[in-house]
Amino acid sequence: MQTRKKVIMITGASTGIGKATAIYFAEKGWQVAATMRTVKPENTFSHHPAIKKFQLDVTDNESIQKAIGDIINDLGIIDVLFNNAGYALAGAFEATKEEQVRKQFETNLFGVMNVTRSILPYFRKERSGIILNTTSSGGIITFPLYSIYNSTKWALEGFMEALQFEVKQFNITIKNIEPAAVKSDFTHNIDFITDSNYEQYSQVVQKNTLIGYRNAPGPEVVAKIVYKAATDNKKKLRYAGTPQAKFIFFLRKLLPLSSFNKMMARMMEKPVSA
Ligand SMILES: NC(=O)c1ccc[n+]([C@@H]2O[C@H](COP(=O)([O-])OP(=O)(O)OC[C@H]3O[C@@H](n4cnc5c(N)ncnc54)[C@H](OP(=O)(O)O)[C@@H]3O)[C@@H](O)[C@H]2O)c1
Repeated sequence: MQTRKKVIMITGASTGIGKATAIYFAEKGWQVAATMRTVKPENTFSHHPAIKKFQLDVTDNESIQKAIGDIINDLGIIDVLFNNAGYALAGAFEATKEEQVRKQFETNLFGVMNVTRSILPYFRKERSGIILNTTSSGGIITFPLYSIYNSTKWALEGFMEALQFEVKQFNITIKNIEPAAVKSDFTHNIDFITDSNYEQYSQVVQKNTLIGYRNAPGPEVVAKIVYKAATDNKKKLRYAGTPQAKFIFFLRKLLPLSSFNKMMARMMEKPVSA
C-alpha cells in the first residue's frame, strides 16, 4: 500500500536553518512548502523536486493567508508548520529606537503569532497538526546586549507553552527547537545598534559573541532535531537545538542564576585583542 507523503510548511526557508530543514525533510521523503519573504531564482531547490517555494512574509497577514491557501490547494494538506523566520536586534537597549524594537517583535513574536493564528482553524478542522518553532537558547537564558532579542524569544517560549493547553483537545502538538550558535546568515543579518556611551562594552561583547560562532555547527544539525521533533510522536515541548544548547541548559539547571550569569559575563566581557 502506498502511503501519502507528509507535508511540512516552513517560514524563512531562503537561508540557514529553514533552508537546511527543507532539504533534510525532502531527503527523508517529505513534501516541503518552503516559504520565503522574497522568492528569488537564486533560492533554488532544483535538486529537490519535493520542495516547492511560496511567498510569505510573517509580518503580512495577506501573504500568510494566501500562502496557506496555495499550499493546501497545491499539496493537498499541511501536516507540520515550522515557524522559523527571525533575526536579531542587538546593542545597548538605551540606544534602540522604538521602531527598531517593534520591528524585532513584529518578526520574531507577532510574526509567529500571525502564522500560527492563520493555520489553527485548518489544523483544528483536520483534528491534527504539529507546530514547531525555532526559538533559541536565548529563549531560556540571556546574553549581554541581546535584551530585545532575548525578550522576543522568551515571549515566544511562554506563548507556545501556554497555547499548548487549549489546542491539545484538537490533537495539535507544539514543540520548540532551541539552538545555541549556528553558522548561517544570522550573524550577517544582526541589526546592531551602536552608541558612544556603550561603545567599548559593545565592541568587546559583540566580538566575543562572534568568536563563539567560530566553532558553531551548520544548520543541518538543527534540521535533524526539527525532524526528530516532527516524527518522534512525543508530547515534549522543548528540544535543545544543538549540542552546545544542551550543555548550556545543563549548566543553567545545575547553577544558581547568579553564578550562571557571572560565568556568562566572564565569557562575554573578557578583553579581546583588536
Ligand atoms: N543562527 C543562530 O545562531 C541561531 C541561534 C538560535 C536561534 N536562531 C533562530 O533561528 C531562526 C533562523 O535563523 P537562521 O540562523 O537560519 O538565520 P538566517 O540564515 O538569517 O535565516 C533567517 C530567515 O528568516 C527570514 N525572515 C526574516 N524576516 C522575515 C519575515 N518578515 N518574513 C519571512 N521571513 C523572514 C529570512 O528571510 P530573508 O532571506 O528574506 O531575509 C531568512 O530566511 C531565527 O528565528 C533565529 O532567531 C538562530
